[in-house]
Amino acid sequence: MSIAEKFVSMEYGPAPEDSKEAVTWLERHASRFQHFIGGAWLAPAAGAYFDTLDPSNGEKLASVAQGSAADVDAAVKAARAASPGWQALSPHARARYLYAIARLVQKHSRLLAVLETMDNGKPIRESRDIDIPLVARHFYYHAGWAQLLTQEFPDYVPCGVVGQIIPWNFPLLMLAWKIAPALATGNTVVLKPAEFTPLTALAFAGICQEAGLPAGVVNIITGDGSTGEALVKHPDVDKIAFTGSTEVGRAIRAATATSHKKLTLELGGKSPFIVFEDADLDSTVEGLVDGIWFNQGQVCCAGSRLLMQESIAEILISKIQTRMGTLRIGAPLDKAIDIGAIVAQVQLDRIHKLVEQGVADGATCWQPQLAMPARGFYYPPTLLSNVHPTSIVAQQEIFGPVLAAMTFRTPSEAVELANNTVYGLAACVWSESINVALHVAAQLKAGVVWVNCTNLFDAACGFGGYRESGYGREGGREGLLEYMEPAWFKSAPMLATEFSVPSSQFSEKAGSTDDHRDNHTAAPDLRTPAIDRTVKLYIAGKQARPDSGYSMEVRAADGRLLGEAPLGNRKDIRNAVEAARKATAWGKATAHNRAQVLYYCAENLSQRRDEIAHRLTAIVSDQQAIAEVDLSIERIFSYAAWADKFDGAVHNPPFRNVAIAMNEAIGTVGVICPREAPLLGFFSLVMPLLAAGNTVIAVPSEAYPLITGDLYQLFDTSDLPAGALNIVTGYTSQLLKPLAEHDDVDALWCFADKASAAAAKAMSIGNLKQVFTNEGRAIDWFNPKIAEGRWFLEHATQVKNIWVPYGE
Ligand code: NAI
Repeated sequence: MSIAEKFVSMEYGPAPEDSKEAVTWLERHASRFQHFIGGAWLAPAAGAYFDTLDPSNGEKLASVAQGSAADVDAAVKAARAASPGWQALSPHARARYLYAIARLVQKHSRLLAVLETMDNGKPIRESRDIDIPLVARHFYYHAGWAQLLTQEFPDYVPCGVVGQIIPWNFPLLMLAWKIAPALATGNTVVLKPAEFTPLTALAFAGICQEAGLPAGVVNIITGDGSTGEALVKHPDVDKIAFTGSTEVGRAIRAATATSHKKLTLELGGKSPFIVFEDADLDSTVEGLVDGIWFNQGQVCCAGSRLLMQESIAEILISKIQTRMGTLRIGAPLDKAIDIGAIVAQVQLDRIHKLVEQGVADGATCWQPQLAMPARGFYYPPTLLSNVHPTSIVAQQEIFGPVLAAMTFRTPSEAVELANNTVYGLAACVWSESINVALHVAAQLKAGVVWVNCTNLFDAACGFGGYRESGYGREGGREGLLEYMEPAWFKSAPMLATEFSVPSSQFSEKAGSTDDHRDNHTAAPDLRTPAIDRTVKLYIAGKQARPDSGYSMEVRAADGRLLGEAPLGNRKDIRNAVEAARKATAWGKATAHNRAQVLYYCAENLSQRRDEIAHRLTAIVSDQQAIAEVDLSIERIFSYAAWADKFDGAVHNPPFRNVAIAMNEAIGTVGVICPREAPLLGFFSLVMPLLAAGNTVIAVPSEAYPLITGDLYQLFDTSDLPAGALNIVTGYTSQLLKPLAEHDDVDALWCFADKASAAAAKAMSIGNLKQVFTNEGRAIDWFNPKIAEGRWFLEHATQVKNIWVPYGE
């Protein structure tokens, strides 16, 4: 036998990583850990501890404090006390701390990697080469943002005290994703790691001490779901950031709906891995190994649904099976292991159960003959083929090393299958044709698309989902915004319940519209009383009678009847949503064309300036009426200008890839317009959405819905495609619910009173809709610095990162 032949036939020997340093670290803490609160270790108030286990053998590693509501309260108080001092530091000083943390993560990288593997069960190769380097990168990247903060975000302030709850699949990496941007933007933090994997978070607390981070800036509190719940419910927390299951995400949404807390959710996924017939199949198989067997498939963006073009399905399946037979499963600390242990017995049971259900649904289950470890929580790599798209294993997150395979014929069928899920976190597209790959990538409802690669992450490239995968992004510029608020917003007064706009709000600013007014020869006669009239709804580009057959009376402040508006109901909302969904031409139109249509709207409004102002005088003062029309014309101009300028970026992550960050329209958006400023408020909300390519169902000002009736003709003659904008008049209390509950409404903007803002969130818990509200605060619609621009456009879009490799 030649040496080469011998080499191939040789068995792998064990290549264990030395665990001594981690064991010493555990011993130094007597394998018993308290909470890290206010820069010190504090025993749990109730004295309770729980065990954390090594999933590779089921043995106890340490006992860890079980946090109670009292512990959470102490941690939040410490974070609150530290907040003014942390915010008062210069950006450079904060940057120095983040930089120090990054350096210390690198210094302790081996300890952290080994500890992570012992607590979580993931192969040391992954924790050493992927998790921990990404943790350090995250802190370096955000040290940079901390330095640039006031230059880049001069008008923003931190949320304050942030509660962060993370899962067990990437314990330290998720901690870094949460803590680094929060600190960089000047927040203080209470973080709760998952109960299965608290150890690296506790080691991180030690790093904070070593870096000399001021006490209370980072607090780590351990415990189970009840500890998380106490943190979510704590009244003095300004923002919650959560990663975990969709089920818990929903519970958190429900618990925060009626509070002022800002919320970001990074939830589950069922990501498609799409392979076209022209793909390089050998590379594809290697990509798939990373896509579904990385971290035992316990990855929210795992490529768990394999969609193969029919012509190559057979050969691809055979290549996958051959490769699966070479995967090595076993002790996670062994450096030559591909698949480690599942985090806990309960997760292992869950995987078994779901696979059994998949087989009962008709799937064929294939597993290679691999030597399985005698002890610990292990599950073999598994391929389920002939999976029906409606089967539980095609729809539900398994969170294990299980691939569900299906076939498609055409690119459009691939897109349809890929999007046939409630989730929308990530997707992979494999094709040697860049045209096909990018065409498909653009149509996928997912926050991240990897072309001919998979599971690549970088601090500069935002990560986050669509639909039930949650909302908000982590990483990149967009991730920072989740931890800040416009300074004016935080200090804005609550909206008075009565319909009124103090005249001082617009009188000064109305002057700025003089240029516009110069185009008109005569000042309008605003004194003639408005005539009574009845308007209709505006759906699919047509005026429509309401389903109810009823109307609402619209009255002036003195009780005078001004006219009647249709009383829209659930059926009208349904019709409007259907029309908006069909108006796909608007989203597909070029940004230039959208801009043209908006300019045309502004032009048409300008021609009817006096008439519209006259109508408005029925409900607001002459002065406000003129200001509203003139500023509306300006506002539409602004968004026409933005339409082809609010574009994305190209990131340069430290790999041979570019990541194309596209600002995509969210889809179909429902808008509850403010009572005050009936015309200007309407345009201030509808125009950024249209500029970004969304279709809209707007409920105009409840106080004066008649005004939008005057605009239908204006939209008709501005080339706005039918259905791009639909208007349903009626009471907010009746129309909010059907908008919030409708699954085809992708986002809801609600700019009414505080109760409506809470209701909008509470009513859309089921479908986890993105909700953007004023939280009941008064918005000065007459001030373009506040009521116009990026803040609205950022909420009208979501970032999709498309990763494209280059080179051989
Ligand atoms: P989980 O969502 O219950 O746990 C995540 C975190 O939330 C943990 O820190 C937990 O203590 C905390 N938590 C639990 N209940 C809470 C509550 N009511 N309020 C506040 N915090 C709470 O996830 P679990 O049970 O560990 O895993 C179940 C399934 O969830 C997995 O099989 C997987 O499908 C999915 N999952 C998805 C993750 C993702 O990254 N998308 C991460 C972890 C789990």
